[in-house]
Amino acid sequence: MKTLLTGKNGQVGYELQRSLASLGEVVAIDVEDCDLTNSEQIVDLVERVKPGLIVNPAAYTAVDMAESEPEIAYAINATAPKVLAAQANLLHIPMIHYSTDYVFDGTKSGVYVEEDDPNPQSVYGKTKWQGEKNVRAMCPQHVILRTSWVFGAHGGNFLKTILKLAQERDELKIISDQFGAPTSARLLADFTAEIAKQMLCDDTTQKAGTYHLVGAGETTWHGYATKVVELANQLGVKTKVNAANIQPIPTEAYPLPAPRPKNSKLSTAKIRTTFGIDIPDWSVGVEQVLKQVIA
Ligand SMILES: NC(=O)c1ccc[n+]([C@@H]2O[C@H](COP(=O)([O-])OP(=O)(O)OC[C@H]3O[C@@H](n4cnc5c(N)ncnc54)[C@H](OP(=O)(O)O)[C@@H]3O)[C@@H](O)[C@H]2O)c1
Repeated sequence: MKTLLTGKNGQVGYELQRSLASLGEVVAIDVEDCDLTNSEQIVDLVERVKPGLIVNPAAYTAVDMAESEPEIAYAINATAPKVLAAQANLLHIPMIHYSTDYVFDGTKSGVYVEEDDPNPQSVYGKTKWQGEKNVRAMCPQHVILRTSWVFGAHGGNFLKTILKLAQERDELKIISDQFGAPTSARLLADFTAEIAKQMLCDDTTQKAGTYHLVGAGETTWHGYATKVVELANQLGVKTKVNAANIQPIPTEAYPLPAPRPKNSKLSTAKIRTTFGIDIPDWSVGVEQVLKQVIA
């Protein structure tokens, strides 16, 4: 069985190359092999590879830049998943796709469940929501994994930025009124492989659907930054800023082109029950990645 994996150099794609190898051959591609803004290239690729599974972590993830490049974001986040899902349907194979907390407006007071109505506020969120709808419509054997605040040893992310800034600056101001869960790329990749195994063995359509998959627990960007500095110090990294001295600031104090949801808390009850998985606390992944990047 061959798995066709997009976005092999992304945070999640990089980890998926390892985790999906347990299922068989992985044909992992980047933009050089197939530009996802080009539908013909996608169709040619799928026809050439003849996969038994498609996994699509590739995305336009530059959230702020998307505000000024909506067409490219739409092509990669909405049209490409549609074409991939149509190809998966022609081959009668499952497709696993990723989405985001940005499909929600973040105004709910509690934790978001899969059935809550999306109301994306940014171009990125709108294109990802359209991508979800396209995958659902084109491929009955789909799994859409909505995640949040992704970090890994490979690629740029908040964890690495904080680790660097904490060593350079004696003052850090971090947003403390947005709530969510950091999610390690490794966690996403490992559970994707488990989900794929179950999809390939069982009656796929029974488990097909949209699921939230994020690290357990919740925090704010400020809480996340504090944990990064605390753990880095415990691992022997000397920082200029002390974890206790990181200043909490409101969203309004750090304006960005794309609006962020204030509440990004996603319930994982559905995925834990359906696939029988046990999700570790978000801080477990933070420590794992810190150990990798410090080493
Ligand atoms: N990062 C987050 O915090 C976050 C949060 C919630 C949901 N998600 C979702 O989780 C998934 C994985 O995210 P990630 O953090 O792993 O993303 P990432 O690190 O930005 O990786 C995205 C990948 O897509 C590839 N790509 C972009 N445009 C392409 C094109 N035209 N043709 C072919 N490949 C293209 C990129 O290739 P290049 O490296 O060559 O550009 C990159 O390898 C995405 O669906 C994302 O929307 C991410």
